[in-house]
Amino acid sequence: MAFLSANAQQKKIWNESPKEKKERLAWWTNDRFGLFIHWGPYSLAARHEWVKKREQMDDKSYQKYVDHFNPDLYQPREWAKLAKTAGMKYAVLTSKHHDGFAMFDTKFSDYKITNTLYGKDALKEWVEAFREEGLKIGFYYSLLDWHHPEYTIDVKHPQSPENKEDYERLNRGRDMSVYREFLKNQVTELLTNYGKIDLLFLDFSFPEEEFGKGCEDWGSVELMQLVRKLQPWIIVNDRMDLSDYWGGWDFATPEQHKVDKWPTYKGEKIPWETCQTFSGSWGYYRDELTWKDNKQLLVLLIESVSKGGNLLLNVGPTGRGTIDYRAENALLKIGDWMKYNARSIYGCTQAPDSFETPENTLLTYNPTTNRLYVHLLDYPLRNITLKGMKGKVNYLQFLHDASEIKISTSKGFIAIDQGSTEDNDLRLSLPVNKPPIEIPVIELFLN
Ligand code: GLC
Repeated sequence: MAFLSANAQQKKIWNESPKEKKERLAWWTNDRFGLFIHWGPYSLAARHEWVKKREQMDDKSYQKYVDHFNPDLYQPREWAKLAKTAGMKYAVLTSKHHDGFAMFDTKFSDYKITNTLYGKDALKEWVEAFREEGLKIGFYYSLLDWHHPEYTIDVKHPQSPENKEDYERLNRGRDMSVYREFLKNQVTELLTNYGKIDLLFLDFSFPEEEFGKGCEDWGSVELMQLVRKLQPWIIVNDRMDLSDYWGGWDFATPEQHKVDKWPTYKGEKIPWETCQTFSGSWGYYRDELTWKDNKQLLVLLIESVSKGGNLLLNVGPTGRGTIDYRAENALLKIGDWMKYNARSIYGCTQAPDSFETPENTLLTYNPTTNRLYVHLLDYPLRNITLKGMKGKVNYLQFLHDASEIKISTSKGFIAIDQGSTEDNDLRLSLPVNKPPIEIPVIELFLN
C-alpha cells in the first residue's frame, strides 16, 4: 500500500516518515476487523444516539436518561469474549458521545458516569476486560458537545435555531476557547489514565456547513500534537478537519457506505476503515428493524478487505449493559464463518491487478504467504474458471476443511457445457453441493 508521502511543502503535525507510519499501522492493517460500541445515556431512550438533537431536547429533558442510567448487567468481559468469538481483534468504545456525557471518571466535568446510580468508571472496567481478553483498545471521543455551557450552538446542536439571525444571540457569552481547553483536558485524561491506547476515533468536523465547525473551532492542530505526544503509537482517524496535514490523520472512515474501490487521497491509496451498523442506528434502538443478514455482514467484511480496508462493526448495548440479542446472534454467526475462514481476512488485502475476479466472487490476497482467496458469493454449479491462472497455482483447497480442489483437465470431464476456456485458464472442479458455509472460500497456494 502506498502511504501518502510527506512532501516538503505539506503542513506537518509531526516528523514521521511514511515507513514509520506503515510500521505504526501494521497491527491494524493486519487485523482488519474491529468492534465499535456506542453506549451511553441515550441507550435508555432506545431510539438513536442523536435523540437529543432529533427531538430537540434541552439538558433538562435529557436528564432523565442520565438519572436512570444504571447498567446492572454490565459485564465487559462478556462483551470482549463475544467480540473475540466473532473474530474481532480490536474494539472502540464511546468515551463521550455528542451528548457530552463522560463514560469515564473525569475531573473536568460532573456530567459523568461516576455521578450516576452506577457510580463506577465503566470505561476503566471496559479497558481492563478487553485488554485481558487480548483485544486492542480504542476510544471514540466526540468533538461535538451538546452539554458543555461554553460550546457554541451550531447547526448540529439540539438548540439550533430556525433563523440564522438567532445564532448570534444564543451564542452571546459562550466561549469556544474554554471548550477547547476542556477538550484537551479530557483527551489528556483518556490518554494518560488508562495505559496504552491503541486507537483514537475523534468525531467529527463539518466546516462546510453554515454554522458548522472544523479545525479552528476544535484547535485540531494543537489537539493532535497533544495526542501524538501522549501516545506516539496511537492510530487516529480522519475527522478533525486536518486532511492537509501530514500526521493529521492516519486512516479514512467511510461511514455506512460501500466504497467502489480502494479510497485514494491526492492520487495515492490510503489506509481506510468503514464503520457500519447492524441496523440503522449506532446507539441501542429497540424498534429499528432494518437489520442486515449474515451474508450481508460477511460481504461487508470480505469486501472491505478485498479493497484493502478494515471493518469496524457496531453494537449498541442496552441501558442494562447487555448486548442486544439481535446483535449477539449476528456476531455469533459471523464467528461461525470466521472460525474456519479467518485466514482470508487477517493479513490480507486487495489482490494484485493481474488476477481477474471471477463473476460473483470477491478476492483477497495475503502477500506474506502468497495465497489468493476466492470467496464464492453465489455458489457455482460444479466448476469455476480462473482466467489466466494456469501455471500460477501450486495447490488448491477449500479453506474451511482443507479439502483438495481438483483442476479439471479434460474438456469432457464436466457434464454441462462450459463455453470456451482459454489455454491459460484454470477450470476448477467443485462438489455439486455447496459446503455448509455461508460464503465458501477457495484457498490458492500460488507459485
Ligand atoms: C456519526 C454520528 C455518530 C456516530 C458516528 C460513527 O458521526 O454522528 O452518531 O457516532 O458517526 O462513525
